[in-house]
Amino acid sequence: MIRKTMMKRSAGMLTAGALALAAVAVWAQNAAAPSGAAVSPVPTPSVPASTVDATQPTPQATQTPAANDPQAQLVRQGEYLARAADCAACHTAPKGKPFAGGLPIASPIGTIYSTNITPDKDTGIGSYSLEDFDKAVRHGIARNGATLYPAMPYTSYAKVRPADVKALYAYFMNGVQPVAQANKATDIPWPMSMRWPLSIWRKMFAPAVVADAASTDNDPISRGRYLVEGLGHCSACHTPRGFALQEKALTDDSTAFLSGGVVDNFLAKNLRGDPTDGLGNWTQGDITAFLKGGRNDHSAAFGGMSDVVQHSTQHMNDDDLAAIAKYLKTLKPVDPNAKALAYDDTVAKALRVGSDKSNGALTFLDNCAACHRSTGKGYTQTFPTLALSSTVNSVDPTSLIHIVLRGAEMPSTKSAPTHYAMPGFDDRLTDQDVADVLTFVRSSWGNKAPAVTAAQVAKVRKDVGATPQPQR
Ligand code: HEC
Ligand code: HEC
Ligand code: HEC
Repeated sequence: MIRKTMMKRSAGMLTAGALALAAVAVWAQNAAAPSGAAVSPVPTPSVPASTVDATQPTPQATQTPAANDPQAQLVRQGEYLARAADCAACHTAPKGKPFAGGLPIASPIGTIYSTNITPDKDTGIGSYSLEDFDKAVRHGIARNGATLYPAMPYTSYAKVRPADVKALYAYFMNGVQPVAQANKATDIPWPMSMRWPLSIWRKMFAPAVVADAASTDNDPISRGRYLVEGLGHCSACHTPRGFALQEKALTDDSTAFLSGGVVDNFLAKNLRGDPTDGLGNWTQGDITAFLKGGRNDHSAAFGGMSDVVQHSTQHMNDDDLAAIAKYLKTLKPVDPNAKALAYDDTVAKALRVGSDKSNGALTFLDNCAACHRSTGKGYTQTFPTLALSSTVNSVDPTSLIHIVLRGAEMPSTKSAPTHYAMPGFDDRLTDQDVADVLTFVRSSWGNKAPAVTAAQVAKVRKDVGATPQPQR
């Protein structure tokens, strides 16, 4: 279900692709600009398998009988990379066969469907050459020459090195079960179904694909950057978007990169070094624990991130997770003057003696304190802390409203199998109650974030399809 809603984000993006770019197209024709210069030619990956094996860390526990067969090793390497890139998130429909596509992606102009990327010759990509595959994955161009909807995150995958594309190709051709399942046509009506505006979008916003460089993977920070910018496509959710819904930055050359974006009515929050709403107070170990187990002493994964942890990051090896964490810790804060928050026990004391009679405090005591406690500190790894939480202190309250209305469930992971859940309060709390309790949470225990209004709650209630507010 989360996956399905996650897709609405991409759908919004493709709407913009069609709408905003109709305007851009007119501009482009007059300005005689996009000559395709931004699109570099398809490289011909020619790195021998043995080089790939030597330069890339392989997943742990690969001691199978065929461990020394280079082809089998390449396939396994590709499987690992497909997890890191979370290809299944979009190409496997709920209850569908792995990678057979058909995930509906709703949009205001119609529905598109992810495609069958199993090696079936007729309905999948079984007859694709490595070059065809590369063109789709990194350049965003289908075999028939049409541009793909940017719902397929090719602007990130452009950073994937040819050697890794080759391993991915080996996996999809030899490690995935072919499934005969025809692709569904979009039901977007003409003229919105025309793909040419997408090619202009692509020429304007897609970066040039990378070539095979001498491997820098021995340096954890380079390896981390490579995984975050490329396969992990973290910025597809965590970077704010510009006028045509393109990501405002695809690399750390701007502090917009990974500074937070709203995706599917969740804030994919700031991952930069800010001490209040970013990862400034998280250690490298905190980050790896979160990506591996879906929780740590600061927070727990929910929304789209719960899926990312479940299907992708928990399967990455410890070296790669450490590399990602090390790299994220190099990102400078958006606000260099932001000061770390400090815990303040005034509110905890007031709650204990019952002296705070505000609607926010009373709503908290009645609905939240059993799990998150009157100290706001919760129970570590079980019910996350609200005190000094970077999630709570993010300026944009979308995630908080969403989680209070609809509840949330942590991912179940190999290292932390119990997935604790929070109930939704949409049928119990009015918009004003939710605004009051969140305003209370955001100004207690040392937290400092702007108040939440009933109008903001009403909007999220509508956008996430929660039940109408109770009548009193
Ligand atoms: C966030 C969602 C998403 C992720 C992640 C994703 N894809 Fe896609 N992909 C799509 C969608 C949607 C399409 C169809 C786009 C269209 O119809 O224009 C697509 C199209 C493709 C195509 C073109 C298929 C064809 O019929 O020509 C290939 C190949 C492909 N994806 C492979 C991959 C691989 C390999 C990965 C992982 C490395 C991946 N995708 C990850 C959403 C995704
Ligand atoms: C499909 C969208 C999506 C993608 C892709 C994604 N994230 Fe997230 N991420 C989110 C959302 C939404 C949240 C906020 C909810 C939460 O804290 O779990 C989040 C939260 C996080 C947090 C917790 C931050 C905090 O302070 O609580 C970390 C760390 C994180 N993401 C890292 C990553 C990394 C690293 C990648 C790439 C490997 C990534 N994310 C890819 C959507 C995404
Ligand atoms: C039954 C226990 C329970 C109750 C009651 C509860 N929560 Fe939660 N809360 C949780 C759990 C479990 C999570 C983690 C969910 C996840 O990660 O998917 C959570 C997560 C959160 C988060 C996100 C914190 C983070 O950093 O990940 C916020 C904010 C929050 N709750 C606020 C509230 C508010 C406000 C109330 C009362 C209206 C409330 N909760 C009631 C169990 C509870």
